Amino acid sequence: MIFETVATGGCRSYVVGCEATCAAVLIDPELGQIDRYIALTAREGLRIRYLIDTHTHADHFSATQQLARQLGVPVVMHAASPAPFVDLRLRSGELLVIGKLRLQALHTPGHTRDSMCLCVEDRVFTGDTLLIGGTGRTDLPSGDAGALYESLFEGVLKLDPALKVFPAHEYKGRSHSTIGQELAENPRLQKSDRGTFIEMMQSLNLTMPTHITEALRTNMTGGKTVAQMLSEASAGVPFMSLGELNARIESGSDDLIVLDVRERDAFEAGHILGARLLPRGQLELRVNEELTDPTRRILVYCEFGRVSTLATATLRQMGFQGAVALDGGMKAWREAGYAVKAGKE
Ligand SMILES: [Fe+2]
Repeated sequence: MIFETVATGGCRSYVVGCEATCAAVLIDPELGQIDRYIALTAREGLRIRYLIDTHTHADHFSATQQLARQLGVPVVMHAASPAPFVDLRLRSGELLVIGKLRLQALHTPGHTRDSMCLCVEDRVFTGDTLLIGGTGRTDLPSGDAGALYESLFEGVLKLDPALKVFPAHEYKGRSHSTIGQELAENPRLQKSDRGTFIEMMQSLNLTMPTHITEALRTNMTGGKTVAQMLSEASAGVPFMSLGELNARIESGSDDLIVLDVRERDAFEAGHILGARLLPRGQLELRVNEELTDPTRRILVYCEFGRVSTLATATLRQMGFQGAVALDGGMKAWREAGYAVKAGKE
């Protein structure tokens, strides 16, 4: 078995590959590491055959859907997953065939309703059901402390004590533990009485993960993150530096329409010399009156350089092939000490 761990902060993804056939699976991939997974499997001579999420993640952005599009391979989750983009829904006990390897799913609801663990040879991928010295929390959407108790004490903990445990999170840099070690040492598993366990899980008072609404929105629906929208927009857009724009304005060159896409009050409080106001929210409505020549070069700016990237991408889609986004925004422009004009257009 070829095996690799990719750690992103406290999140863990795993590559499991069959040496004999070069087939591999990717477990719990994270959106920011897509190039790393592709590079790593290429280096190992592996071809990814399945993309698996052990559950609906609330704390990181899953890369399964994007990788599925890129690689043309199925996304696998438990049958209880709400995500519409899942191609293969496993039920407890079912196997995935990866060359000569057999990966077996074990439904372990509790952290989420769709949580599953995956056993292959000498190891088990426990998702957020069982962590090293801990368990997944049960206070997020579809979490259930009673279900987690059953999944652990009637499920995972009954597996071979020698099985190596590889969780979806590890914050102290340990690579893995074993079922036996967790049974003996995991503080949360010492309360083997159901009522006490539930009470303990319900009184943890954990803070909510950052980005929880965005993570649940994108992981449950297959929708895009804000960062994805921006990166897709910026991939098709050229940029102009603050210094270049300033030099053009100072030289009196008028080959450029400078377009401010912020709201009117921000524009009137201070804008770039000679800029025209066309708020992002009105772009499509007013573009035909305001920008009559599609061949003109149009420099678009906003406050931080993000909304202007989206606006520039929209303009280019509409045929304004001379649209350019400012690399930075009005905030960076002011901080650089370049000239600002207040007042109406
Ligand atoms: Fe989780």
